[in-house]
Amino acid sequence: KNVAIVMGGYSSEYKISLTSGNVVFNQLDKTKYRLFRIHILPEKWVYVDENEKEFPINKHDFSVIIDGKTIFFDVVFNAIHGTPGEDGLLQAYFQLLGIPQTSCDYYQAALTFNKRDLLSVLKPYGIKTATSFYLNLGDTINSEEIISKVGLPCFVKPNKSGSSFGISKVKSLEELLPAIENAYKEDNEIIIESFLDGTEVSVGVINYKGEIKVLPITEIVSENDFFDYEAKYLGKSKEITPARISEELKVKIENVAKRAYEVLKMKGFSRSEFIIVNNEPHMLEMNTIPGLTTESILPQQAHEAGISLPELFENAIELALK
Ligand code: DAL
Ligand code: MG
Repeated sequence: KNVAIVMGGYSSEYKISLTSGNVVFNQLDKTKYRLFRIHILPEKWVYVDENEKEFPINKHDFSVIIDGKTIFFDVVFNAIHGTPGEDGLLQAYFQLLGIPQTSCDYYQAALTFNKRDLLSVLKPYGIKTATSFYLNLGDTINSEEIISKVGLPCFVKPNKSGSSFGISKVKSLEELLPAIENAYKEDNEIIIESFLDGTEVSVGVINYKGEIKVLPITEIVSENDFFDYEAKYLGKSKEITPARISEELKVKIENVAKRAYEVLKMKGFSRSEFIIVNNEPHMLEMNTIPGLTTESILPQQAHEAGISLPELFENAIELALK
């Protein structure tokens, strides 16, 4: 089978995606699959061979000509965090072309990538969230009104982004406007959330061999103010798997995460973030193309569950092909 591992993307997360994609490429069994690294970048869509030689992708049918032969792909392994890999654009494109893919469908991708919309869809199912305030670019900003609703400290986030790009923890009224401006660099929609004072956990839910499986829960202990970019990628955090929580709380979180996966009719990978306040998980977000590097959380969780990286990635491909 010809497997296109797509990586890169158009967002601030493109470098992380290249790392994820290369890990997928290195871990998958090359005797089982014919693997192609495809870089999808704003300036070019190219297949990159072992010698880093590039061949342009024909966007009309997602094929590539190599040494005079046209190659089509049987399945796409999506390792693109952020747009266009995690927000539904590529999902819709591959669905239209009829190429199976490892990620969820376009609607679920678009919905989950939009924090505001995801949380508002899940709320009626009893999934708790922070108190929030939304802004669209151009809206009048009344700092007093925002703070009176969400309190201090609060979090200012781009509504659609990942890896904590553009996120600030705001501790005073004066810090709010600069934080909003910073978030607008990533997205034209902003979500401002009350600070939830509790333990942060990350919960991977995947379809493993046809069954929805909740992986061991990870507890996040950040040395920084929150689980920001530095904490995520520059070692300024401890990720403890399995989380040091009671069995009762563990079951509760597992049920909430699994329910979210089920009600959204998710496929493939997902990793949701929660803050536990008074024994109640409050959902922050869901990632459908979670980091897949060897140090990333979901691979760590899979490892703890006895699933190796090759098994994890192969499972995703085989499910996509079913
Ligand atoms: N957005 C990053 C890659 C993650 O969720 O792991
Ligand atoms: Mg995220």
